[in-house]
Amino acid sequence: MASSEGSNGSSDRSPRAPAARASCAPRTSANHPPEIERAWLRRCQGSRRAVRERPQTIRPATGKLAVLLPGLGAVATTFIAGVLLARKGLEKPIGSLTQMGTIRLGKRTEDRSPLVREAFPLASLDDLVFGAWDIFPDNALEVARHAEVLEARHIDAVAAELAQIEPMRGAFYPEYVRRLHGTHVKAARSKAEMVEQVREDIRQFVRRHGAERAVAIWCGSTEVFIAPGAVHQSIAAFEAGLAADDPSISSSQIYAWACLKERVPFANGAPNLCVDFPAAWQLAREMGVPIAGKDFKTGQTLMKTILAPGLKARSLGLQGWFSTNILGNRDGEVLDDPNSFKTKEVSKLGVLEQILQPQRYPDLYGEIYHKVRIEYYPPRGDAKEGWDNLDIFGWLGYPMQIKVNFLCRDSILAAPIVLDLALLLDLAARASMRGTQEWLSFYFKSPMTAPELYPEHDLFIQSMKLKNTLRWMIGEELITHLGNEYYD
Ligand SMILES: NC(=O)c1ccc[n+]([C@@H]2O[C@H](COP(=O)([O-])OP(=O)(O)OC[C@H]3O[C@@H](n4cnc5c(N)ncnc54)[C@H](O)[C@@H]3O)[C@@H](O)[C@H]2O)c1
Repeated sequence: MASSEGSNGSSDRSPRAPAARASCAPRTSANHPPEIERAWLRRCQGSRRAVRERPQTIRPATGKLAVLLPGLGAVATTFIAGVLLARKGLEKPIGSLTQMGTIRLGKRTEDRSPLVREAFPLASLDDLVFGAWDIFPDNALEVARHAEVLEARHIDAVAAELAQIEPMRGAFYPEYVRRLHGTHVKAARSKAEMVEQVREDIRQFVRRHGAERAVAIWCGSTEVFIAPGAVHQSIAAFEAGLAADDPSISSSQIYAWACLKERVPFANGAPNLCVDFPAAWQLAREMGVPIAGKDFKTGQTLMKTILAPGLKARSLGLQGWFSTNILGNRDGEVLDDPNSFKTKEVSKLGVLEQILQPQRYPDLYGEIYHKVRIEYYPPRGDAKEGWDNLDIFGWLGYPMQIKVNFLCRDSILAAPIVLDLALLLDLAARASMRGTQEWLSFYFKSPMTAPELYPEHDLFIQSMKLKNTLRWMIGEELITHLGNEYYD
């Protein structure tokens, strides 16, 4: 069963210990039903491909790290201000696994649980320099004030630094975000030229700030829904599309392409395709660049991926899950456009289906009615409110209900994700890891995976995958939570 496989901490794409590899061979030749046989084969093939050599060296995190953000809005400024406040020792970076979390290494009896930031050579917060692009000219201080996420006491304490962060002109094709009418945009004769301009921005920023390395996180608006087309299928097709100004290449894809060409690791915080299409996967591998996405996992979906695995673990049934929320920030305004909402809806709806696996559990989850609504309601600003109603059933089919009323703050939940992604992608790059980094699914609503794999949405599987990957990177034993050795 796919889910229990994941729940012991292993997964198709996680690096495996040599012992796990050896166990593949006999199982495939045993006399199992064909379905099990095929599943094993797939798993073993997957694992062989994924069992790349453990990084032999991780280059040290010396010098400055440029954190480049296409989209200087509520999330980006909340992230930057938070890092600046933490640097000054005025606040703690709560919600960031890399800063606040620990990782167990070795046996429980060894009592080794260092902070993640002490166990791994991550860039220090002091070494981060921030750059951004936006289609409006406001600097980070003006944006932070307008966003009304942070209180004046927090903004004032880092006002001088925020005021210095002025966005570079954005690469913007308005048909992809119809509600915004950008005024601070680049002009280019073709999309190929637009990519070159963004590349030049990156080079100049890195030079000007004396940065040794850079990473980029898309914090721009959600673009309208598009399915990958012919132009997205190969590097050659995409390059030809750029030159021919192909309308199916979006603004966010221009940034992603420019970053990959500059060997800048790239993560996508929004649900649009951005860096999740075959040509980008290929280019990332070819250029030796790690990529990750999509759509920061905050708010309601975070709750869903915490609650649904619990219901499933106890074999409780689910009849329906209705989620609605109100928010009034610019993100909410963009999502008020049905085309942008469709991108978000696709990203949000897949979660329950994958976690609960209705095909495997028809009696428990065969007829779930799942609905997600987002309502733009300006008075609320960034202080979103979400209501979830779960109709569940238990022993003998008796119905029960769970109501969740989450008064969350979107950007407060998203900011630490931006920080962790920047630091972990930079670590991955220094460990020569390239292409899709599925171990970072922990941070995403709609995790990117190899095309033949379904994404893991269960937050607890994602957490184990992330921590086991970190252990693997430094040659520590993977933790399966089997634990029978303590009772020998
Ligand atoms: N806040 C959360 O919890 C959360 C969760 C998941 C995903 N997201 C996604 O993160 C993104 C940022 O969210 P936010 O609340 O900061 O939104 P926001 O509207 O405050 O900021 C987005 C910024 O992107 C800019 N932008 C749009 N197109 C651009 C382009 N082509 N180039 C440069 N800049 C561009 C906009 O002008 C705006 O300033 C959104 O896509 C949102 O859906 C946010």
